[in-house]
Amino acid sequence: MTVVRTPLVVGNWKMNGAFETNRALIEALLAALAQQSLPEIGVCPPFPYLPQIAALLAETPIGWGAQTVSEHRAGAYTGQVSAPMLRDLGCRYVIVGHSERRQYCGETDAQVAAQTMAGLDSGLVPIVCVGESAEQEASGQTLAVIDRQLAPLLLTLAGVADEGASVVIAYEPVWAIGTGKTPTPEGVQAVHAHIRQRLVAAGLVQTRILYGGSVKGSNAAILFALPDVDGGLIGGAALDAQDFSTICTAAMMHAV
Ligand code: 13P
Repeated sequence: MTVVRTPLVVGNWKMNGAFETNRALIEALLAALAQQSLPEIGVCPPFPYLPQIAALLAETPIGWGAQTVSEHRAGAYTGQVSAPMLRDLGCRYVIVGHSERRQYCGETDAQVAAQTMAGLDSGLVPIVCVGESAEQEASGQTLAVIDRQLAPLLLTLAGVADEGASVVIAYEPVWAIGTGKTPTPEGVQAVHAHIRQRLVAAGLVQTRILYGGSVKGSNAAILFALPDVDGGLIGGAALDAQDFSTICTAAMMHAV
């Protein structure tokens, strides 16, 4: 059986945006992407802007999603937002376990696995972020760190292999985020191949693996040409319509 993985490019807007600039960005992006064949594309703005983005992207091929989700369905969890609520807003995606959430909000690997399951239960596509810090990379711990981050997730997904198909993994080396540095293409491929091996061993052959960390229009084509890179999770460059559309075009060139 040939496995086809549709390339996916997702913009993580992080804590950026305002009604006026969001509208301008989406309009410019839609104009830049018009008349092109596209990969699967999503944008993840901050929570307050989801209704605005949903309205702007309705009837377009671009999906939207959130940047985190509660592992709980409902109840006394002040400040949290549940997966059913995101579904109500028409979200297709939810990013979970981003390194900024792990670092600033203390999210653990077990919590990230629970958030992933909450997303899947509500029909969302969770994009689960993993990646090593600069110190871990320098001391050769990259693969061990990723195995540790993935372990509770793969254990949980083992019971629901079918649902697991809609999970996406994003490899984001922490030291590459917002720094302009990226691993070498060989380095990216080696980590993605390792993640692929773990996923396939768990029966998750369809799962896409995105690369994130200083992806730009100028380096996207090289990264997306790597055999185990199925697209990108884009931070800063997702706030620039031209750069983001160039990245989307690069992903499409490597559609199988
Ligand atoms: P940059 O593309 O700004 O490096 O951010 C990557 C990222 O964290 C996406 O989630």
